[in-house]
Amino acid sequence: MNVLCNDDPGYGSIWSQCGGGYSWLVNAELNRITFWQQDLIRDDRGRFIYLQDARTGELWSATYQPVRRRPEAFECRHGAGYSVFVSRNSGIESRLTVFVPPGAPLEVWLLELVNVSGVRRDILAASYLEWCLGTAHDTHREFHRIFIETDWDSGRHAVLARKRLWAIPNARGQGWNREWEGTAFHSCSGDVAGFECDREAFLGVYGSPEAPAGLLRGRLNGTAGKWGDPVAVIQTGVHLDPGESRALVFVLGAGSTDDEALSLVDRYCHEERAAQALSETRRWWRERLDGYSARTPDPGLNALLNTWLRYQAMAGRIWGRSGYYQPGGAFGFRDQLQDSLVFLPTEPERTRRQILLHAAHQFREGHVYHWWQPITEAGAVSRFSDDLLWLPFAVLAYVRETADEGILDAEAPFVDGPAGTLREHCERALDLALSRMSPRGLPLIGEGDWNDGLSAAGWDGRGESVWVGNFLCYLLPRWAALARRRGDGERAARYLRSAAALQEALNTRAWDGEWYIRATCDDGTVIGSARCAEGQIFLNAQTWAVISGVCPGERRRQLMRTVRDRLYTAAGPVLLRPAYTVPDERIGYLTRYAPGVRENGGVYLHAATWAVWAECVLGRAEHAWKVLQSILPCVRALDPELYRAEPYVTPGNIDGPDSPHFGRGGWTWYTGSAAWLFRVVAEWVLGVRPEEDGLRVSPCITEDWDGFQVYRRFRGAGYHITVHRTGQGGVLTVDGRRIGGDIVPAFADGRDHHVELLL
Ligand code: GLC
Repeated sequence: MNVLCNDDPGYGSIWSQCGGGYSWLVNAELNRITFWQQDLIRDDRGRFIYLQDARTGELWSATYQPVRRRPEAFECRHGAGYSVFVSRNSGIESRLTVFVPPGAPLEVWLLELVNVSGVRRDILAASYLEWCLGTAHDTHREFHRIFIETDWDSGRHAVLARKRLWAIPNARGQGWNREWEGTAFHSCSGDVAGFECDREAFLGVYGSPEAPAGLLRGRLNGTAGKWGDPVAVIQTGVHLDPGESRALVFVLGAGSTDDEALSLVDRYCHEERAAQALSETRRWWRERLDGYSARTPDPGLNALLNTWLRYQAMAGRIWGRSGYYQPGGAFGFRDQLQDSLVFLPTEPERTRRQILLHAAHQFREGHVYHWWQPITEAGAVSRFSDDLLWLPFAVLAYVRETADEGILDAEAPFVDGPAGTLREHCERALDLALSRMSPRGLPLIGEGDWNDGLSAAGWDGRGESVWVGNFLCYLLPRWAALARRRGDGERAARYLRSAAALQEALNTRAWDGEWYIRATCDDGTVIGSARCAEGQIFLNAQTWAVISGVCPGERRRQLMRTVRDRLYTAAGPVLLRPAYTVPDERIGYLTRYAPGVRENGGVYLHAATWAVWAECVLGRAEHAWKVLQSILPCVRALDPELYRAEPYVTPGNIDGPDSPHFGRGGWTWYTGSAAWLFRVVAEWVLGVRPEEDGLRVSPCITEDWDGFQVYRRFRGAGYHITVHRTGQGGVLTVDGRRIGGDIVPAFADGRDHHVELLL
């Protein structure tokens, strides 16, 4: 798959290697442009281009779907912002490049045809897509189609489509009483041979996109209006002499008015302008990605760090917020806050904006929306115990990167009241979390914590979360330092006291003998103990005990040894073990997943990256590398029959050993693991990480590497960092001058600096 998306206005388009997928604007759930159904076997709903020999009627498609003819040659290449499908059929080479240009609510399909058959040919090209326009309903097409109207604009070679119903409330709160606000368009640069806007007229009764009756009979009816099952087909013909090539452009998008739609057609539906827009798209993505680059001895890791993990986080998670396996649309309070940290080395101002956006979805009392929908702003009020805490977490990371403590004075509204400073927002979150404690001094888990699947454990307000305890112990001392710098010594002291009490409670009440328990249920049942029949040990409660410093020095090594023995597998560290085989209503829905999948004992990649982090905190380079090797998609995909997922993006899950498909990757793209894998490798394995007083260079790399290079921006200067393994034990030079310690100062002089570390 590829997820093509721009940041403004947030137009998105998903493509599978066969041509399946869908398009949307701003919100893939509430504002779909094209109709789609998630069929993991067939992958046959999409936006397609048919190619046909006008003389013989022979039919194929530029992508494998929907005609599914075996091509003589085929290649699909996904890049940042574009995908290319190259195919050869019956002596015609087609090259379809699809992309979403920056700054426009549309996608462009650039089709190049080359006649390699040696004889003169007449080729017909016809597009096909099904209109959705509004909420992504996947049932009741009969109802929705009645509100859609299509129009043919012969001057512009364009189909225009509108919908008179948007199934979201209008300004007065009424349902089913609002226009879909915009005009969708689909156009073609070539001379038009025919068009069709009714699905049945095109496919024929009982027909299918594999063999549309309209193309087989050689005539399109030119139907448009309000009474069909709305689609868009535009057909154009080209004559090709032997060796000749021709380019055609199709554009699909949505303007806010008819006029805007037509002016977008004028602007993009033209061969040269489309080619120019493609270069702009590629340049725009290079600008997003270029401020960070790593050259390690591992080419797969380099491709992930330099392009794909960040591309996945930006296009898929932050701007698109939708994937093939998990179509979405809403912002998750904790999700996009974590994702947005991926911008820190390159464009921290984008992290800042994301932080303020999330702050504006907090209530005065301190709690937040678990998720909210852009466009309607409808959201679910969170009873999760961790959501609110990701706000101070993200602010701490942002301040460490930029030293911009001014962000604390920036104002953001509360959902239910006037604006407050970001500092106030964060402190309300921390204070509310600190007020939700059990009589034993452990945090209450509420409706769940980072692990959504622990959904029932604290429903009645008594169940506890050990992981939230760790998370608080990570946050409190760091926030205390910030508060002290801002002159609030009283708060700093209070937070330090709370952290100490919490640490004590965790090490006495939550210690199970060899590891920490994970949580307790309302009735006191313990989750994650050696005494449990299933779910005996959970990863996060151990890794975060190390990361946060909760686990005392002597115990940490032993703890990580236990984690390695019990949770690490050949396909990565599993989230818990053994998996639940019997649903447990006291714990929640994680016990209901198939054993070994996702939160129920899968390798939940988001959390697996934290194991790499914990190994690095202990300086265990070889273990960190081993975990990394076990989860890197480019390594796992070396066995494609088993892994079955893309080598270039992270999956949400890899099946754990309690699944018969142990090692199978799944649910790629829409996962917070992309940003985390990037950050953990960049900051902890390569070890180049911002600290209050500068940029620390403290790698934790395998003995197999003789070094690596990183370029990164930091507080207004560029740093070219070279690490060599020479046996010199850590000699650090900056611009040729030796410095003590491992922290490179923040020069903030707009210049490039050369840093060398001899290990
Ligand atoms: C999903 C959620 C994320 C949660 C994770 C673990 O990925 O989007 O917020 O932390 O599951 O349950």
